[in-house]
Amino acid sequence: MAVIVVAAGSGTRLGLGKPKAFAEIGGVTILHRALRTVRQWDATAQVIVVAPHSHLDVARAIAQDGTTIVPGGATRQDSVAAGLVALEPSVRLVLVHDAARALTTVAQFERVVRAVRQTGAGVIPSLPVRDTLKRVAAGTVIETLDREPLVHVQTPQGFPRTELVEAYEKASTEFTDDAALFAASGHVVTTVPGEELAFKITTPADLARAEQELRGSEMNLRTGIGIDVHAYDAAEPLWLGGLYWPDEVGLSGHSDGDAVCHAICDALLSAAGLGDIGSRFGTDDPRFEGAHGEVFIAETLAMVEGAGYIVGNVAVQIVAKHPRLGDRRGELEAHLSRLVNAPVSVAATTSDGLGFTGRAEGVAAVATALLEMRPV
Ligand code: CTP
Ligand code: MG
Repeated sequence: MAVIVVAAGSGTRLGLGKPKAFAEIGGVTILHRALRTVRQWDATAQVIVVAPHSHLDVARAIAQDGTTIVPGGATRQDSVAAGLVALEPSVRLVLVHDAARALTTVAQFERVVRAVRQTGAGVIPSLPVRDTLKRVAAGTVIETLDREPLVHVQTPQGFPRTELVEAYEKASTEFTDDAALFAASGHVVTTVPGEELAFKITTPADLARAEQELRGSEMNLRTGIGIDVHAYDAAEPLWLGGLYWPDEVGLSGHSDGDAVCHAICDALLSAAGLGDIGSRFGTDDPRFEGAHGEVFIAETLAMVEGAGYIVGNVAVQIVAKHPRLGDRRGELEAHLSRLVNAPVSVAATTSDGLGFTGRAEGVAAVATALLEMRPV
């Protein structure tokens, strides 16, 4: 199987002064998005990118290794023809896809390929026409068309290789899509349902729509994990989760040994991809000598928010023989939630007498954090 992704157009109507496939939606180029979907759908298919002469290197940098890059032609039809020349000999089924339909889903590729396999025909995804259609001449309506049998056509369009290549060799006029050229050669073309997301990005309004669609659909969430351990030190007061625990054995450490706050910091930094508490604060930085956990959390939160995230929630589990959370759980959760500016839940467990926590040598805390990329 092969997919020819045509990306050699100049994007005149988009008007960005660069070929359309290299315009970005949500910071990712149209070509990259189209190729990502193709690879998600079938990692083993031959992928041929038809790119503008001026952008062959850029296209190569965007595409994965193993992708065939060929220069395009003056028209879309010329570009597809250039792609067909690069087909590997073993390929039997060819899909032709507009890079400009960057939000097309994997499901659409699957629908098309399944139908080509079942029918041996050319297959195109289509959507019904919703607006009323009229034939006009010089601004005057001649007739209202029956829209019932009419459809909008999208890509990918799928074909048996031999027939498509032959049809292209025979073609002597310009067709508006591959299926029209294929049909002109006497072959059958059938339809499968298309999808709204496969709309073609043509104008600035289309690009804005694509940005809007992504905002709703793309995962803007990141999770992180953090763990921290401190040994008991009977000479120290206990600070845990930012609270003082009277009459409890304290924890040792360069700071106040607050394993709960430190695990939360690590989870937040991990979710934001900002490293960890050790690399961010320096374990022997004199500014943090004896510092309370809240200081670390406040600084971590500033870093995470500065990187464009807001905290969704945080969950912490304490593994320790003591202190017992008991009736302070609510107080602890409320305090940490205020510090993190998001819900924090706290649980506790013992380790059934096993390991350093079971031997009551220290406290471990594990935290997870969920961050959401702040809407742009
Ligand atoms: N295409 C191509 N080679 C061409 C013309 C178009 O590979 N000579 C590709 C485009 O890159 C696009 C698809 O065919 O992915 C559909 O074309 P269109 O939406 O018309 O894109 P452009 O030609 O780039 O846009 P415009 O017509 O506004 O210049
Ligand atoms: Mg065009």
